[in-house]
This record gives sequence, structure tokens and C-alpha cells, in this order.
Amino acid sequence: MTLKSEIQVAQLSELSDSDRQLVDLAIEATSRSYAPYSHFCVGASILLENGVTIMGCNQENAAFPAGICAERSAIFAAGAQYPDQAVVALAITARNTKGELIDEPASPCGPCRQVLIETETRFKRPVRILLYGKNRTFIVDSIKQLMPLSFTEF
Ligand code: THU
Repeated sequence: MTLKSEIQVAQLSELSDSDRQLVDLAIEATSRSYAPYSHFCVGASILLENGVTIMGCNQENAAFPAGICAERSAIFAAGAQYPDQAVVALAITARNTKGELIDEPASPCGPCRQVLIETETRFKRPVRILLYGKNRTFIVDSIKQLMPLSFTEF
């Protein structure tokens, strides 16, 4: 037996209105990024169960580990403002050092994946994830597709 991950590959034109709006919000969030060190501006957007959307973006710091990724900035902002609302979907994109939207999707780092696993466990609901690049968008129905066999205490 083999366990396999499922990742859908789509063009922007193939997305539903709801997915497209979330991607547009992630693109908007890139312009709020504070990335004076890497100049890689990551934007994230979250759709909550109550329909509210939240933006996040990477926030860097001269003491490097003190900064935070766009994904966690959005998830933690959502947790602080709407602690009882499940996260339904998350979109992520970025601008490169030239300020252009990335051609290929950027994928969440390890710690962000671990936080997404816990978000799904916490709300007992999978998070749809859209990774947008100009050439293609990767879509998964749960972080488990990007992080199989993950650590969880519960
Ligand atoms: N970054 C994110 O915001 N999300 C990721 O998943 C990976 C990396 C940020 C961290 C840092 O500010 C910049 O991108 C360059 O690594």
C-alpha cells in the first residue's frame, strides 16, 4: 500500500469566485509586508467560518528569529480576533525582490505547516489552502496533503 498526497493544479481563471477573492486578498496583503531584509513580501488571507476575511503578511526584524511569516501572522490575528471561528481557507502568495508577483507558488515553511495542523485539530475542520503563483495555483483540501504523518498530541 502507498499513501499519496493530492495537490490540485489550476489556473487563476479556473478558480471559484470565493477562491479567487481570497487569492486577490493575499495579493493585496503582499503590499502590507514588512520585509526590509529579505525583500520577499509574502501575503496571506484567511476565510473564517462566519465569512470574515483576515489578511496577514511577513513581519521581519533585525533580530531575525523575532520576525514572523505571513501565514502565522494571519492565523494568529484570526485567533486573537475571532477565537471561536474555524479557519475555512487560506491563500498565500508573494512578491519577489523586484516587486513582481511570483511565477511559481510559494509553499508554507515547516513551522507554519505545524501551526496549520494545530488549527485543523483545534477547530476540527480541514483548511483549504491555495498557493498562488502567476503560472499556476496549487490547491489542497487540508494541510495534511502538504504535511503527511505530522506530529499531533491530540
Ligand atoms: N516567509 C513567509 O512569510 N512564509 C513562508 O512560508 C516562508 C517565508 C517569509 C519569512 C521571511 O520574512 C521571508 O519570507 C523570506 O524568507
